[in-house]
Amino acid sequence: MRLIHHVDELRAALADAREAAFVPTMGNLHEGHIGLVDIARRHGGPVVVSIFVNPLQFGAGEDFERYPRTLAADCARLEAAGADIVFAPDVDQMYPEPQTFTVLPPLADQLCGAHRPGHFQGVATVVLKLFNMVRPRYAVFGKKDYQQFFLLDGMVRQFNLPIVMLAGETTRATDGLALSSRNGYLAPDERAEAPRLYRLLRAAAGRLAAGERDFTGIESETATALTARGWRVDYVSIRARATLLAPTGDSRELVVLAAAHLGATRLLDNIEVDTPAP
Ligand code: PAF
Repeated sequence: MRLIHHVDELRAALADAREAAFVPTMGNLHEGHIGLVDIARRHGGPVVVSIFVNPLQFGAGEDFERYPRTLAADCARLEAAGADIVFAPDVDQMYPEPQTFTVLPPLADQLCGAHRPGHFQGVATVVLKLFNMVRPRYAVFGKKDYQQFFLLDGMVRQFNLPIVMLAGETTRATDGLALSSRNGYLAPDERAEAPRLYRLLRAAAGRLAAGERDFTGIESETATALTARGWRVDYVSIRARATLLAPTGDSRELVVLAAAHLGATRLLDNIEVDTPAP
């Protein structure tokens, strides 16, 4: 496995390579990321993993400064997982001059975007740049960041990028908590409370699967149950999977998404659910 910091070296390393599969990350890797590398490895070409804590996607007062930078440990994990190249540029390499941003559809200002203004614009911008640097045939992202995947998938189509987007299922701890690089911020009592988010999303999904269609009621009861346990809820939202907008009467394939803060840690989760025909 090679660790590369410069884009010219990356291009040279990939010049004669078969179709690459790419896993963009911000590092501090966990089993969820390794699952994405496993998906990438199935495609036979070189597996490239980027590690870059992208300042453009953090808002003022967010955790950009304290986001864990664990390059040596990440590289050891990736080597064991069978990655071929780790691309770890620094900020000057990624943004040598004031950056032109990718423009996204209005959905980017809903859900997480409503609470993190400009976040997805920063994500889409760095991912488009990374795609142009790596030029992968496949790109793998986790479904835990459901809205991120949806927006990036749209970006790939809109810009006719020759990339096949692949989504990896969320990897969970045995108590159901979705693995996240930010779980390490949780104090022991918060870590014990954290799986409640998934439990409540499962309960909401169960009601939908049983045919309930009172979306607003389910959303607000789920949010209230979290608030009662000390969470600060950004949103609980039931959306149609095809559009990530509010479901219409015909929408059967849904997803329940939530983001909420436990102490200083913001957690995200979601569950896809198929609902019965009337
Ligand atoms: O999901 C992430 O870790 C980041 O948003 C990504 C896609 C690597 C862009 O910085």
